[in-house]
Amino acid sequence: MEQHIKQYGHLKAPGNWINDPNGFIYYQGRYHLFYQYFPYAPIWGTMHWGHAVSEDLVTWEHVGIALFPTKEGDRNGCFSGSGVEHDGKLNLFYTGVHYHLADPENIHLCLNNRFDSCQMMISSEDGMHFDNFGGKKVVIPPIENIRQGDKTDTRDPKVWKGSNGWYMVLGSRSQEGRGKLLFYRSEDLESWSYVNQVSKGDGWGWMWECPDYFETEGGQVLVFSPMGFLKDGKREENQSICMAVDFKEDGCEMKMPDKYQYIDYGLDLYAPQSTVDEAGRRVMVAWLRMPEAVKEEGTPWSGMFCLPRVVEVKDGHIYFRVHPNVKKRYGRPIDNVADGGRNGYRISLCLEENGCLNVGGYQIFRRGDRICVDRTKVYRKGENDRMVFETPPVREGNQLDVYVEDHMIELYVNDGEYVISNGVYGIKRELYVSGGCGVELFGMEW
Ligand code: FRU
Repeated sequence: MEQHIKQYGHLKAPGNWINDPNGFIYYQGRYHLFYQYFPYAPIWGTMHWGHAVSEDLVTWEHVGIALFPTKEGDRNGCFSGSGVEHDGKLNLFYTGVHYHLADPENIHLCLNNRFDSCQMMISSEDGMHFDNFGGKKVVIPPIENIRQGDKTDTRDPKVWKGSNGWYMVLGSRSQEGRGKLLFYRSEDLESWSYVNQVSKGDGWGWMWECPDYFETEGGQVLVFSPMGFLKDGKREENQSICMAVDFKEDGCEMKMPDKYQYIDYGLDLYAPQSTVDEAGRRVMVAWLRMPEAVKEEGTPWSGMFCLPRVVEVKDGHIYFRVHPNVKKRYGRPIDNVADGGRNGYRISLCLEENGCLNVGGYQIFRRGDRICVDRTKVYRKGENDRMVFETPPVREGNQLDVYVEDHMIELYVNDGEYVISNGVYGIKRELYVSGGCGVELFGMEW
């Protein structure tokens, strides 16, 4: 691995492949962000956990591989999971997978999708050293009771400290092919008991991946990534959604409403994970799915994360505001986009009715009370790819903050009332605005 690579703003694969963020935590004075990592090629394969650290959520350093397969339980991969601090130690929870048969033509893939999943744990004294050979424990073996969960499709433990013990939520599915969540409870982080499960009716996907649950001042929030949610055969049919819920620790009962929001209306983001930042804010990152690896910059790479976002709930609406450290860092006024340098730039403006902003070929425009984008000119021409996206009707004006870098554009509408993020290829360092007001440009501060 190309270790000790530094990156600014968006975290990207340090070469080869990354997907979900894992084990995101502020621990011993730094942020640790692990990620699903295949170290040999820019495609998905046997999962390792790569590791990056940051002091401010803006400057990231990749520091190597934290977890890799060593046991029967995780011989074919260390899938997604989370981290919590206890007694000074960093405890990571993840899903170990064991294929019944590997594909003889590519042993990193499973034949016929038959594999066992168990939930595993590993602790570290300093968040930097992980004893992959001696330090792993299976905390929940593959589930045998089909009424409880699925032996193959149960994964992605998110652990948190409740007011009365430790809790874990897992994504799973029923035998009828409906996504569901399983809740477990523990006194000591090692011995876990099953408590409850929740699900919804048809139309909510067949498997729920990467659940996350947390409390904010404005209410309790559930986030998960249902597979087959859009059911239109496009690449983006697996989606990440969020909703205000009512959760009771006692019995782990959760009431889920019918109303949900997309995490991001660009529909490229997937598998978000949150933690609490240094100042007590709820901060989230997510994987941006890319259809093709970037090959022009040394080792080919695929996969990047969105900028860290602060999650807030106000009047039942969930906001995703760019983290203040990021916004502040993109605070150097510039006259021209070329002055933004390698780490891109931020545009701040509002759009009048039918106003349009052309960011190097990526179109952002307003239609009534919706903000829309079109990436046709800066994306591959795959039949199964979506090109046009829009927000729901906005309530709070049309103030836009657009973060532009070579392969990703993030558009924050009204300070995170809605966000649209998209992967892009080959955008030009040009900017045209018509029907805009208060246009300002900023590069990164050094
Ligand atoms: C989501 C996901 C998780 C799984 C991981 C494997 O993108 O499928 O459910 O743990 O990726 O890489």
